[in-house]
Amino acid sequence: MKFVALLAVVSTIVAALKPQAFHAYKGGAITFEQYLKDQNVEGSSLRTAAAASLGPESLPTISGFYKQQVDHFGNQKGINGSSYFNQLYYVQDAFYKPGGPIFFYIAGEGPADDYSLRGGSFSLISHLMPRYNGMAVTLEHRFYGAGADPKNPGRSVPTADLSPESLKLLTANQAIEDMASFITDFPSLFPEKKIPADTKWITIGGSYPGSLSAWMRQQHPELVYAAHASSAPVQLQLDFWRYSYAVDEGLKFWADITFKNGQACVNGWTRAMKVFDTTLTSILKNPTALKEFKKKFWLSQLVDINDFTSYVGQEFGGTVQYYPQSEKVGSVTKLEYVCNPNSTFVNPKASDADLLAALQAFSIAKLTATGITGDDDPTLKDYNSVPITDYSYSNNALIWFHQACNEFGYAQTAQPLKGGLIEGWSAYSQFINVNQYEWWCQKTGLSKKSAAKEINANNQYYGGLFVSNPNILWVNGQYDPWHWLSNFKSAPSPADQDVLVYKNATHCMDLWGPLDTTKYYPRVTPEYENEFFGKLFAVYDKWIHGK
Ligand SMILES: *[C@@H]1O[C@H](CO)[C@@H](O)[C@H](O)[C@H]1NC(C)=O
Ligand SMILES: *[C@@H]1O[C@H](CO)[C@@H](O)[C@H](O)[C@H]1NC(C)=O
Ligand SMILES: *[C@@H]1O[C@H](CO)[C@@H](O)[C@H](O)[C@H]1NC(C)=O
Repeated sequence: MKFVALLAVVSTIVAALKPQAFHAYKGGAITFEQYLKDQNVEGSSLRTAAAASLGPESLPTISGFYKQQVDHFGNQKGINGSSYFNQLYYVQDAFYKPGGPIFFYIAGEGPADDYSLRGGSFSLISHLMPRYNGMAVTLEHRFYGAGADPKNPGRSVPTADLSPESLKLLTANQAIEDMASFITDFPSLFPEKKIPADTKWITIGGSYPGSLSAWMRQQHPELVYAAHASSAPVQLQLDFWRYSYAVDEGLKFWADITFKNGQACVNGWTRAMKVFDTTLTSILKNPTALKEFKKKFWLSQLVDINDFTSYVGQEFGGTVQYYPQSEKVGSVTKLEYVCNPNSTFVNPKASDADLLAALQAFSIAKLTATGITGDDDPTLKDYNSVPITDYSYSNNALIWFHQACNEFGYAQTAQPLKGGLIEGWSAYSQFINVNQYEWWCQKTGLSKKSAAKEINANNQYYGGLFVSNPNILWVNGQYDPWHWLSNFKSAPSPADQDVLVYKNATHCMDLWGPLDTTKYYPRVTPEYENEFFGKLFAVYDKWIHGK
């Protein structure tokens, strides 16, 4: 099965995740490198073109390893019985003047890097540091450095492997305490920087790190003065069916921008899902017919119906969460493949049989693009979900899904036919449901039981949407599916918090800072871009200068 991963390194993680059939989307900002690659932008020229006030590109950072406690809540030991492990950090002090704030750029479900701290555009931090004489730091989230550095495969990992026993140490709450210890010890790690005791620490993060940012402010107000929570899905939810509604909305938006046929494409695609679901339902109990049906998608080797339906019935999550170029079929985007004016999916006269055939052709095109040669290609066996047996650092794709399956839920399911935000079929097949998600979590061995109870307990503990301390800025992209689990319309009153919606934007795009939106996403007018970032910087002015 596959899911849209929440975050930054999504594409790497999803690609590395075998079985490939199940679509798991994490949250998280897409990496800047990935963005530039997807846009065919020559990264270095773009960064050189950045305003001089941002500093030259490629400013060096300081890096090191912080001696971190293995278990903040119990006595579980790490490698060789140790109570400590080495956690990677980066620091940028080029713009720092004592008394200035420290921006804690929170790393989450992927390896940490110093990209955002090196100056140049495509980084909000580049704008914040010179504006406020600030320093910036980042600390690798425990476990997520696994396998990232061939010379140090266990980087920031407290344990000798990624087994279920080891991953008990992987929780948001452990990560929060990691950051709290780091903030507490930071002035003594760098005495020469003369960091005053009353320094304002401001946490900043997008996606899961956005939630961590809000939770840091909530749980450690004595350490964290303010928090910027971008695309932060703080409302934990097992059955996140609004995700598929967001795919309806976002697919229409992107098809309108690209081909001016958004409604037609959404109508055709959802009709195709309906035909798929009704046909499949009618033959589920007939093994011969079922096998023939799967064969037309080149998927007859997928044994479990869950692996089959997740490959066919859960499309466009990445397109909508990021932008069309993040999901391709060979040389064209999935959006272009499905919504181009010549496609069967946008032809209102297409029959049910035409739509089913188009869906089969789409499946074959996707498989062909990855080198599959036919229904009998032996590599298709790998598309079956199987129990994970490799717990080495290199099997790092499992790390995020361990958290999702046990702590957060976030199953990106189809909205129900009745009682959803629309009536009837949406962009996802009705087979994409919470039972399927839990089946996958358990089949792979990532979890032992439903996470429903744990998710309720975590919402009680963290507060869900009601993260109540003042000085929190919530930012969400208008078309980001994850905004449904965040504070995007209003802040939980009566706290002094701020809420901004970034129009036409998707996941975490505010963290890229102001850009030339005639060339880069989000597609908004320059006037609107100025207005939006004017509001965002006004919140920082208020926090830092008190006005
Ligand atoms: C753990 O102990 C073994 C045996 O003494 C040693 O070879 C290894 O380097 C130790 N690992 C770490 C991370 O200290
Ligand atoms: C659609 O088909 C026409 C006629 O075959 C062709 O000229 C045009 O390039 C096609 N458009 C797309 C987007 O494929
Ligand atoms: C958002 O995109 C639409 C479609 O391209 C455009 O008409 C609109 O002006 C954009 N919104 C802003 C705020 O720029």
